[in-house]
Amino acid sequence: METTTCFYVAVCVLVACLSNVQAAGWDYLNDSGKGPDTWEASYDTCGGSKQSPINIETAMVEEKDLGDFTFVGFGEDDKPVNATMTVSNNGHSVVVGVDGDYHVSGAGLGTTAYKAVQFHFHWGSVNSQGSEHTIDGKAYPGELHIVCYNTSYPNFFSALFNEDGLTVLGFFLEIQTVDNPALTQLFDVISSIQFDEEEEDLSMPVVFNNFLPSDLSSYYRYSGSLTTPPCYEIVTWNVFTEPIMVSEAQLNALRRQYANKHNAADNITLTDTYRPVQPVNNRTVYMTDPNAVTDHMTTLSPNQDNINTENVNTPTPSYVNTPTPSSAPCQFASTSLVALVISKVLASVLDD
Ligand SMILES: *[C@@H]1O[C@H](CO)[C@@H](O)[C@H](O)[C@H]1NC(C)=O
Ligand SMILES: *[C@@H]1O[C@H](CO)[C@@H](O)[C@H](O)[C@H]1NC(C)=O
Ligand SMILES: *[C@@H]1O[C@H](CO)[C@@H](O)[C@H](O)[C@H]1NC(C)=O
Ligand SMILES: *[C@@H]1O[C@H](CO)[C@@H](O)[C@H](O)[C@H]1NC(C)=O
Ligand SMILES: *[C@@H]1O[C@H](CO)[C@@H](O)[C@H](O)[C@H]1NC(C)=O
Repeated sequence: METTTCFYVAVCVLVACLSNVQAAGWDYLNDSGKGPDTWEASYDTCGGSKQSPINIETAMVEEKDLGDFTFVGFGEDDKPVNATMTVSNNGHSVVVGVDGDYHVSGAGLGTTAYKAVQFHFHWGSVNSQGSEHTIDGKAYPGELHIVCYNTSYPNFFSALFNEDGLTVLGFFLEIQTVDNPALTQLFDVISSIQFDEEEEDLSMPVVFNNFLPSDLSSYYRYSGSLTTPPCYEIVTWNVFTEPIMVSEAQLNALRRQYANKHNAADNITLTDTYRPVQPVNNRTVYMTDPNAVTDHMTTLSPNQDNINTENVNTPTPSYVNTPTPSSAPCQFASTSLVALVISKVLASVLDD
């Protein structure tokens, strides 16, 4: 395929993608006609068999030695000097766009590193709900997702159309009486961007290790999806057992967000921003355990399931799913297109 053809196909995909987004729309409300129960009607993949989030039944998990994660850029000592972070309300969530060299590897994720592109929150109106994943039916008041793409792909957007494209680091939010001091600046900025399309840069990027739980060695692993439309089944999930601790005052900065733009006729509170749990079906949920007898990670690699975009009902992305090496240079020849997609589609759709 020539570059021009590739570009043409990419534009068609983009246009289809954008019109789909604009025509359909989605939210978390129960009575809007666009809530989670209806997503499947507008976005086929949301009705797939490997959807997220799930309820993790601890009695059913399989223990396995997945190994430790390697985090690069996450600490005070190795933070990227030129990183920037931008906090925005996109009408569905509060998303922090990350531009910097933050990498995740190890932990049975294969040889290629994953690069963080954004993190975002899910939260509830009351403390008994808000997380997307649940453990033995228990929900937490919130959940934070750090979204990372497989750097075998040229960028985040092209990774989206590959079953091994993303890994997400999921952390529950739990309430403590005092503020988490490492998140003071972030929550101050969140408080100042209450409305859809408002955004503000962090003057100092957060240092992940200062607010992530100190024990990152205990986590669940399974193959799943984005938890928001278009629900692509491309995510290797990591759900950490240790929560991030925040105060209720900090959580309230999220609960004060609105789904509408500034000066809209009505204010619609953005809350209970979680998708209900989805069927586990025949998937295995692993729990890392350094003492488990390991038979290598073969079953964990999503590409071994050989589920391509055709059999998960996503005809649009199948145009850009180019598994043969010869077509690799063709993937999104235009960086300006990618920039457009990132600003238009990802900001509004891919909160996951
Ligand atoms: C939707 O209904 C559920 C169950 O009654 C409730 O917990 C949740 O808060 C509702 N969500 C919204 C956004 O009102
Ligand atoms: C930060 O600097 C490094 C090394 O100079 C460079 O490779 C990288 O692209 C820069 N990252 C950003 C986000 O500017
Ligand atoms: C990242 O993508 C490449 C190319 O498809 C693949 O070989 C590799 O296994 C992927 N990494 C992971 C951890 O799945
Ligand atoms: C929406 O909320 C803002 C901030 O709380 C407030 O200033 C504004 O008057 C509200 N708009 C309406 C229509 O209630
Ligand atoms: C799980 O079910 C899907 C169809 O729903 C099937 O394609 C897949 O092969 C099954 N996987 C396993 C490991 O049985």
